[in-house]
Amino acid sequence: MDRLHIIGGSPLSGRIPVSGAKNSALKLMVACLLTDQPIEFTNMPNLADTRFLAQLLETLGVEVYWPRGSSTCHLNAAELKSTIAPYEQVRKMRASFNVLGPLVARSGHATVSLPGGCAIGARPVDLHLQALEAMGADLRVEQGYVKAAAIHGLKGAHINFSTVSVGATEHTMLAATLAKGETILENAAREPEIEDLAHCLNQMGAQITGAGTSVIRIRGVEALKGTTYPVMPDRIEAGTFAMAAAAAGGDVTLDGAPVAALGAMIAKLREAGVAVDADEAASTIRIRRNGTPLKAVSLSTQPHPGFPTDLQAQFMALMTLASGTSIIRETIFENRFMHAPELARLGADITVRGQEAVVKGVAQLTGAPVMATDLRASVSLVIAGLAAQGETVVNRIYHLDRGFERLEEKLGTCGAKIERRSGEEE
Ligand code: EPZ
Repeated sequence: MDRLHIIGGSPLSGRIPVSGAKNSALKLMVACLLTDQPIEFTNMPNLADTRFLAQLLETLGVEVYWPRGSSTCHLNAAELKSTIAPYEQVRKMRASFNVLGPLVARSGHATVSLPGGCAIGARPVDLHLQALEAMGADLRVEQGYVKAAAIHGLKGAHINFSTVSVGATEHTMLAATLAKGETILENAAREPEIEDLAHCLNQMGAQITGAGTSVIRIRGVEALKGTTYPVMPDRIEAGTFAMAAAAAGGDVTLDGAPVAALGAMIAKLREAGVAVDADEAASTIRIRRNGTPLKAVSLSTQPHPGFPTDLQAQFMALMTLASGTSIIRETIFENRFMHAPELARLGADITVRGQEAVVKGVAQLTGAPVMATDLRASVSLVIAGLAAQGETVVNRIYHLDRGFERLEEKLGTCGAKIERRSGEEE
């Protein structure tokens, strides 16, 4: 099993290119099921999760041409040979569940495994199912599978989500593109990835307005066509490198960064005393901290445009070194503080009380062996390891490979002493 060895304590300096967004790519790829014409995605991140979804699409009959290492992925769902997404696949990667709506929209029926729980929370899919039902799908849950049918096609519906959900908004939007009539989504999520998906679907011939606001209207069309579409840059990856530079110190510029999508993160870094020069026209963010102490800053995770839950662990890693006490509230997922006890192994002073973590800044972290528990928690350990004195070994980094492309290479070009080794856990 691979692990990362990090010798911390030296500042980072250089430029890091931002990759395509995992959480956009996963929904964009699913969109290929809605058309019998080929689709080409550029800026596609090479990640365990995107490769995994490509395999699931192949089992459904999609022709996939995506050479190893290439950032261009061709998908052609001219003919589907299956409408079944098995447990083994959906369990491993939850976003696979989003094939349900598009399969029903395209073929009139589908059988897709329920994803089950996840390390960071229960993560139910009730909102996805309620929306599909409102659009006329007949749903049954049997032996852990959702069996859905809409023999005469889906129909437009007025859906008011009881909770803001990124996945349910995207899933319903995908399905509604081919429904008869208009679908209105209220209390929709406003994440930039939803706008990205809507742009791509509109390029394919869909009629979607309002994506990026809390009311989205989708006028169903007869058919969608193929297209070429660039995946938006990954705001979470960009935010992660920004926090790595802030924690370790130095001068790092992120190239191809989605500046407008990172407002909340940039504001919090500045509050913490980090110099951030964000240039929206040039798509760059420069992060500098040369000896300036970090100030403790409190925050609460929120749906976009609030501070993203996917950057909470990384921000906590930064706050372990701030002067003062920072209170971090997680409001999206019920079990997303698994990094706290691992950060404590490096000397961080964190007390978790329910959905709140009280982080008392310490003068210095010291390297130690730690264990990755989920994607964002893992990378928070990398950030802390870069800032700590001595060696940190991050075990179970398969979590990192799900969502960070060439992580150690990108950090390495900025002078980070970080190396992947295979072998036994430490
Ligand atoms: C997406 O998950 C992301 N995943 C997550 O990123 C991200 O943390 C999350 O959005 C919030 O921004 C992908 O895009 C693949 P939600 P998603 O539906 O869509 C509750 C990462 O690290 N809920 O917005 O699953 C849910 O339990 C991952 O890259 C219901 O109650 O998140 C949660 O409390 C982790 N019923 C809240 O809504 C439902 O049917 C928000 O979840 C659906 C969701």
